[in-house]
Formats: sequence, C-alpha cells, structure tokens
Amino acid sequence: MKSLLVINASGRVTRSITRQLTARFVERWKEAYPDAEIIDRDVGIRPPTPVSEAWVAASFSPADQRTPEMHAALEESETFIEEILRADAIVMGVPMYNFGMPAQMKAWFDQIVRVGRSFDFKDDEADPYLPLLPSRPVVLITATGTSGYEPGGLNERFNFLDPHLQSVLSFVGLDNISLIRVGFEESQDKRFKRSVEEAELSIDRAAGKLTPVAQPVN
Ligand SMILES: Cc1cc2nc3c(=O)[nH]c(=O)nc-3n(C[C@H](O)[C@H](O)[C@H](O)COP(=O)(O)O)c2cc1C
Repeated sequence: MKSLLVINASGRVTRSITRQLTARFVERWKEAYPDAEIIDRDVGIRPPTPVSEAWVAASFSPADQRTPEMHAALEESETFIEEILRADAIVMGVPMYNFGMPAQMKAWFDQIVRVGRSFDFKDDEADPYLPLLPSRPVVLITATGTSGYEPGGLNERFNFLDPHLQSVLSFVGLDNISLIRVGFEESQDKRFKRSVEEAELSIDRAAGKLTPVAQPVN
C-alpha cells in the first residue's frame, strides 16, 4: 500500500482550481495504487491552530522534560509530522493570497517546523541548519488570480508564495519538489484555460514519474 498525503489550502470548496488539480493527482495515484492510503489534511476547511505561548514553551523544552500539558500543546504538531512521515509522497494545492500563502497554510508550517523534531541547528556558521525529515516527493500546485509571477516575469518581485513554500519545505528536508503553477484564474479566459491544460499535463507527468504504469485489466 502506498500512502499519499493530500494538503489543500484553498478557503473555498467549490470552484477551487487548486482543489481540482490535487484531485486529479489523487486520481492518477489511485489508478496506480488502487488500495492506496489517502491522508486528507485539509487546512482550508480545518485551519490548524496558530502557535501559542504554551506551544512555544513545549516546543523548546527537551522532549524528556515535557509535562503532560506540554505534550498536549504539541499534539496537533505531532499529528501533522506523523502524516508527513507516513506518506510516500505529498501533493499540495496552495493559492496565492495577498502575494503569499493563505494564513491556514502558514499555520500548518508553523506547526510542523520544530527544532529537534523537523530541523536542528548545526555548529557551522556557513550552514547552520540540519533538516530532520526524510525527503519524499512533493508535487506543489499553486494558483494565482493574475500572472507574471514566474522567474523573469513582470510580477516576480511580488511572488512570496512559491519561494516561501519551497524554502520552508526544503528547510525541514522536503527538498524533492515539483512546482506546477496555474495563472489567470481571475480572468477565466483562454489564457486561464491554457494554463490549466498545461498544469494538467504536468500533473500527469509528475504522477507518471512517481507511479508504475497502471496495468490493463484483462
Ligand atoms: C483572499 C484572496 C487573496 C488573493 N490574493 C491574490 C494575489 O495577491 N495575487 C493574485 O494573483 N491572486 C490573488 N488571489 C486570487 C487567487 O490566488 C486565485 O483566485 C486562486 O485561483 C485561488 O485558488 P483556488 O482557485 O484554489 O481557490 C487572491 C484570492 C483571495 C480569495
């Protein structure tokens, strides 16, 4: 059985292009692995809890010195990290909200980035961080209402979404990332349609690389 962690971050459930595209990847995954475990982490519908004073105190206490209350404060974080560890691959659908990721997506990252659990410090000024999570493929699908956010594009300087996601994923060890972008969602015109078609092809290609070709049933 192969496990796929599916993370959706869009605040809307209907008409969400990132949700449609993560669903397409899930379909491809299920074609290849009919008994796959699909781990559904929908931060758009169920936003993670923002970190609190209790969370920070617990996170920065050595694991063997944590009180039961501290363990309770880290329960959500543990759940999310365990989901990553259980997954053979991860697909994420993340819209751009105000040039960055939605608050609910950032809250998930704030829960999973933990010293001593998902990263550590090294005694090396030039390279001070040590990712602790084992790498697994991440198919990262992002969507924007307008366009030009790609490298060299007119709005590249406003793109705090893709670089932030790529940086923080790699920071904890999830550095095998295939980034697939959709633009022009707000115009809903043929530029959007073409962008979606290209994203669909990229998703099928990404799925093809991660799954054996489905065997025809006789
Ligand atoms: C609160 C909010 C903020 C947005 N901010 C931006 C933005 O800064 N730049 C942009 O190009 N599109 C922006 N959009 C448009 C979305 O990125 C776009 O509609 C995307 O397709 C949403 O993802 P979804 O279709 O999966 O819901 C914003 C949309 C919302 C709802």
